[in-house]
Amino acid sequence: MDKKRIIIGISGASGAPIAVELLKIFKTISEVESHLIYTNGSKKTILQETGYSLEDIEELADVIYDNNNIGASLASGSFKTEGMIIVPCSMKTVAGIATGYSDNLLLRAADVVIKEKRKLVLVTRECPLSQIHLRNMLELANMGAYILPPVLSYYNHPVTIQDATNHIVGKIMDSFGMEYDKFQRWNG
Ligand SMILES: Cc1cc2nc3c(=O)[nH]c(=O)nc-3n(C[C@H](O)[C@H](O)[C@H](O)COP(=O)(O)O)c2cc1C
Repeated sequence: MDKKRIIIGISGASGAPIAVELLKIFKTISEVESHLIYTNGSKKTILQETGYSLEDIEELADVIYDNNNIGASLASGSFKTEGMIIVPCSMKTVAGIATGYSDNLLLRAADVVIKEKRKLVLVTRECPLSQIHLRNMLELANMGAYILPPVLSYYNHPVTIQDATNHIVGKIMDSFGMEYDKFQRWNG
C-alpha cells in the first residue's frame, strides 16, 4: 500500500505543542508518512513551549527537511503529497504564502500545494488579529486553504491544556478525513 505523504510545517507562532501531538499521532498511523519542515522562528517556540529538543521533534517525523534547502523534493509539484498542515502558522508565514514570497522551503512547499490544488491546512495563530492578518487569511481561504485557528471550545468540557490541544488536533485530522479517538464530537 502506498503511504500518504503529509507535509507538516512548524512555524514560529505560539502552539508548538499542537505540532508535537500531531507528529506523535501520525507516527502511530502506518499509512501516513510525515514530512517535516520547521522554521528558524519555530526553534524558539519549540524550546519555550514544549519539553522537546529539536532532535526529539525530528525523531517524531518520517522525513526531515532543512528549511534552507529550496531544492528539496517538496519544492516541486512533481513530488506527490496529500497536502500540507502548517501548525502553528505565524502571521509572517501567512503573509509569505498569501503573496507567493517563497524564500524558504516551508513557504515554497505551501506555494506548491496551492498551485497543485492539494490540501493546505493553516493553524493560524495570533491574538488580536490585525486587518493585515485577516486580509491575508481571507486571501488564502479564497484560494481553498483551510483556516483552522487553535481557538478554545467549551462544549467538550476541556479540563487540561492537553484536552484543548487534543480538540485542535482532532479538527486538523478531520480536515484530512482521519479519525482521532481523543477528539470529542458534538452529537447533539
Ligand atoms: C515565544 C514566541 C511566541 C510567538 N508567537 C507568535 C504568534 O502566536 N503568532 C505570530 O504570528 N508570531 C508569533 N511570534 C513571532 C514569530 O516567531 C516571528 O514573527 C517569526 O519571524 C516568524 O517566522 P516564521 O513564520 O518563519 O517562523 C512569536 C515569537 C516568539 C518568540
